[in-house]
Amino acid sequence: MEINRSNSTKINDVNFNSIKFGEIFTDHMFECNFKNGQWESPIIKPYESLTLDPSTHVFHYGQAIFEGMKGYKDKANQLWLFRPEENYSRLEKSCIRMDIPVLPKKFFFDGLDNIMKIEKDWVSSNKGSSLYIRPFIFSSSEMLAASPSLDYKFLIICSPGASYYSKSLSVYIEDKYSRAAPGGAGYAKAAGNYGAAFYPTSLAMAKGFDQVVWTDSTNHQKIEEVGTMSIAFRINDKLITPLTSDTILDGVSRKTVIQVAKDIGIDVEERDITVKELIKEYNDGNLKEVFGCGTAAVIAKISSFGYKEDKFEIKDVFDSYADKIKESIVNIQQNLAEDPHGWRYKVEE
Ligand SMILES: Cc1ncc(COP(=O)(O)O)c(C=O)c1O
Repeated sequence: MEINRSNSTKINDVNFNSIKFGEIFTDHMFECNFKNGQWESPIIKPYESLTLDPSTHVFHYGQAIFEGMKGYKDKANQLWLFRPEENYSRLEKSCIRMDIPVLPKKFFFDGLDNIMKIEKDWVSSNKGSSLYIRPFIFSSSEMLAASPSLDYKFLIICSPGASYYSKSLSVYIEDKYSRAAPGGAGYAKAAGNYGAAFYPTSLAMAKGFDQVVWTDSTNHQKIEEVGTMSIAFRINDKLITPLTSDTILDGVSRKTVIQVAKDIGIDVEERDITVKELIKEYNDGNLKEVFGCGTAAVIAKISSFGYKEDKFEIKDVFDSYADKIKESIVNIQQNLAEDPHGWRYKVEE
């Protein structure tokens, strides 16, 4: 693979203490183009703007997908990724659903390995620190025909930073808008799913909430996700999370939370949970915790939820599942604990 190193670095201009999610980017990017029916040899080059014709397909038809993952450095300066196979397999599903030619696995892993190595100085070994990695593919043919693009670009960019959501969240249970519908593309990490979620989220924010809890598109009763995270509920001592479906993104963190919870002896149920059940359990005093989980935040606690005109406050619990599970996951990610399921992926240098 061709590697063109940048002859300067921005790292000294960055104040790592006041960094916001996704605003600063590292010195290099990985690029691989699909042309004439095949993915061409990739390149790593200095981070730069793209020049695109106004007719570029993605601007009009949004044939675009992405992934979100993190790289870590341990105290011995070894670089790690966390469950990258899961991200590849989801990328493959997203490609198929959006009619994008599937990116070969080798290019995905070559990209991750090499971008991590070249940006090593941007990864801090402090606990909780990581390098956010954003692989994405978009349709790049210059054409207005409403048919699949003939050309695509796969890029990987990286952004150093703290966690996405740090404070606990107040969320609104959506009873009008939907993120996804059966038969749609909710299970794919398709760019348009996110664009379409901004308006309902802005409406919820105008009512004083941080995020929306997505519910099924038919009756708005079955709880699906929260913002851009999977959702879990602790009812008494049981952890409940909705089963994945074609309207739910199959979160890597969700799978990890389920396994870690089981490993520490928590009873986990993957099943439908309705708004009605949630409110009943709340009123009966059984709803102990609610949290979101995703790559960016790992786990974000939810301290209140709104539904129609009502608001429900969730008190902090002693012995929080969210805290315990987050601690276990972060320790595995940063090589501070055993990795019994082989989730850590060593970036060989
Ligand atoms: C809609 C949605 N649900 C769930 C998740 C959590 O997925 P993961 O744990 O793989 O980051 C994300 C984050 O990418 C998301 O965008």
